[in-house]
Amino acid sequence: MRLLFVGPPGAGKGTQAQRVADALGIPHISTGDMFRHHVSTGTELGRKVDEIMRSGGYVPDEITVSMLEGRMAMDDAEGGFILDGFPRTAAQVEALDGLIGEDGLDHVVVFNVDEDELVERLLARGRADDTEETIRTRFHVYQDQTAPLLDVYGRRGLILEVDGIGPVDEVTDNPLRRTHRGRDRMITIKSRREFAKMEKAGATVAAIHEAVREAAAPGVSLLELEEISAKIIEDHGCTSSFLNYHGTYPATLCLSPNDVIVHGIPNEYRLEEGDILSVDAGAIYQGFHGDAAFTIGIGDITEEARHLIETTEEALWAGIRQVRSGNRLGDIGAAVAEIGSAHGYGIVEEYVGHGIGREMHEEPQVPNYGEPGSGMKLRKGMALCIEPMFNIGKRHTKVDPDGWTVRTADGTLSAHWEHTVAITPDGPMIFTAGEKPVPVEFEEAASRG
Ligand code: MF3
Ligand code: CO
Repeated sequence: MRLLFVGPPGAGKGTQAQRVADALGIPHISTGDMFRHHVSTGTELGRKVDEIMRSGGYVPDEITVSMLEGRMAMDDAEGGFILDGFPRTAAQVEALDGLIGEDGLDHVVVFNVDEDELVERLLARGRADDTEETIRTRFHVYQDQTAPLLDVYGRRGLILEVDGIGPVDEVTDNPLRRTHRGRDRMITIKSRREFAKMEKAGATVAAIHEAVREAAAPGVSLLELEEISAKIIEDHGCTSSFLNYHGTYPATLCLSPNDVIVHGIPNEYRLEEGDILSVDAGAIYQGFHGDAAFTIGIGDITEEARHLIETTEEALWAGIRQVRSGNRLGDIGAAVAEIGSAHGYGIVEEYVGHGIGREMHEEPQVPNYGEPGSGMKLRKGMALCIEPMFNIGKRHTKVDPDGWTVRTADGTLSAHWEHTVAITPDGPMIFTAGEKPVPVEFEEAASRG
């Protein structure tokens, strides 16, 4: 996790940066500390900085960037870092981009502090050089300097605003929770860098789909399909989202034939002409998940089965077309359910879609029913798995004694389709449809969110 903390002088940003860094197990890189360290250990850069500071000048950005480069290359910064004090200006953002690239940060955590509250707080602290006037002047300088920086990072979709005033623990909790390492379940907002990892995970899932689709035929066993999947996950430098899920799930695929709705465990069963099979796969690339499913017919299948499969896929696409900034969760469920109901299918309610990111299952739940315009607002940085499950008969489900296999209660056929869809800075994208993300196509091209 690579973070930048930005906040006005006196907002306690440095203290918070240290606490969050400790909690995440990454270094807190404060530019001030870094200068002092170089000066006190007498490095060449330190001597330059010392000279400049003694003459009252500003340290040039190249020097700061060189120091940062060295600091970031140290072992403890392998899992990320928190920058504090640099960059402060738009020009410094460019200098940092030169070092870590435009996608180099995961989040920019901005401490929002009310000017009057800050004045009150700092006056109460009673430092000699803190008069109301100096505090206000410093605050305005900060605001003028950082506005262009916030603008740049805002356009990159990196900004997480946190409330900088309040009891210290609450203030710390806030950025921690926002950067989603907090264990409590929450909606996570992903950066471009994080989405890039999810794209790789999604591409791996798409590759599994393609290979399993190709291989699934009468006479082929579910275990053979599982082997294909395990190999592709390894070849792509990924791990499985499913294997060992809840400490017990034994495979990288869920293979759900006929009346199995979801979570079927690959076994010795050999596919037969006329079967339908739902194939669900999940992969993790550098800590980020992709998850998707499809249903196919094995050889010749009945018209009834084909219609079920096609309609469930159609419902998936209808749900996907609702994923854009400003729409709501209920819009997705309503679009999915409308199609299921129109064909009289049982729409499964006990199992739902979900948010996805560092965990396969994150908030929010994405049900396959809902009221248009209701529920949480969708926004940039979210990623959702949309996964309609339709039954030819009633919607009701039952679980086998193995604790996993979910079947239709009435024994009728069931189909399941799923994609991982993200609202990226470039608009909504499907991550699990192929080697590259596929932009979501809306009916009205103008409404792209
Ligand atoms: N793709 C499934 C889902 O979205 C997850 C399979 S459950 C597991 O819920 F146990 F296999 F992980
Ligand atoms: Co899923």
